[in-house]
Amino acid sequence: MSKLIYITANPKPDSKLSRGMQIGEVFLNEFKTIQPDVEIEHMHLYDMDIPEIDMDLLYGRAKLSFMGYTKEQLSEAERTKLEKMHALADRFIAADYYVFVTPIWNLGAPAILKSFMDCLFIAEKTFTNTEAGPKGLLTGRKAIHIQTRGGIYSTGPMVEFESGDRYLRKALEFLGFDLMDTVFAEGMDHFPKMVPEIMAKAKEQAAEAARSMAKQTVTL
Ligand SMILES: Cc1cc2nc3c(=O)[nH]c(=O)nc-3n(C[C@H](O)[C@H](O)[C@H](O)COP(=O)(O)O)c2cc1C
Repeated sequence: MSKLIYITANPKPDSKLSRGMQIGEVFLNEFKTIQPDVEIEHMHLYDMDIPEIDMDLLYGRAKLSFMGYTKEQLSEAERTKLEKMHALADRFIAADYYVFVTPIWNLGAPAILKSFMDCLFIAEKTFTNTEAGPKGLLTGRKAIHIQTRGGIYSTGPMVEFESGDRYLRKALEFLGFDLMDTVFAEGMDHFPKMVPEIMAKAKEQAAEAARSMAKQTVTL
């Protein structure tokens, strides 16, 4: 049986308030028509205990990597935060398909997504450094990003300013993911009268992407 992790980076609790999550639900429902037995885990980042990279994490990691300390010699805070980070990464790694749903906020993704991704960059677990440069270890896994935007970033003067989808795509590519095209619903705050049309188009694209992803088998 395959597993899909559905990651929502939005303080809104559900799809009643979030347009991104409405599109995400279309994706999940369509995915299930092709893979009815898929196990879906929802990671709602605002409900999770995600450790920030602070002095405990930095120093704890340095102690283990370069300073010859054992885990038992770390402070309580260092050990607890490092364990949380590794547990989160282990939980994340254990899937085949990944759907990220985020709004663009101030040109990027909500900061909580960066904190989450920071927990996944662990040398020798999710990537390794080779003579030819870094190499992602999460190969084979499929991912898609669904992003909602108040303005327009696909054409025009704001193209270069978009940093949320760009960051997430590059981070996942670095880790070895096989990425599908982003589904974005844009211009919804700038052109409110067009919201039904924009949402209908994004939902259709999400459904198509779901069918395509669900037909791709993952070999890990
Ligand atoms: C704090 C904040 C910052 C935002 N910054 C941007 C932005 O930089 N560019 C943009 O196009 N829309 C921006 N928006 C608008 C949201 O991206 C847009 O309303 C989106 O549709 C929200 O998706 P949701 O309904 O899933 O929450 C911002 C919204 C908030 C709350």
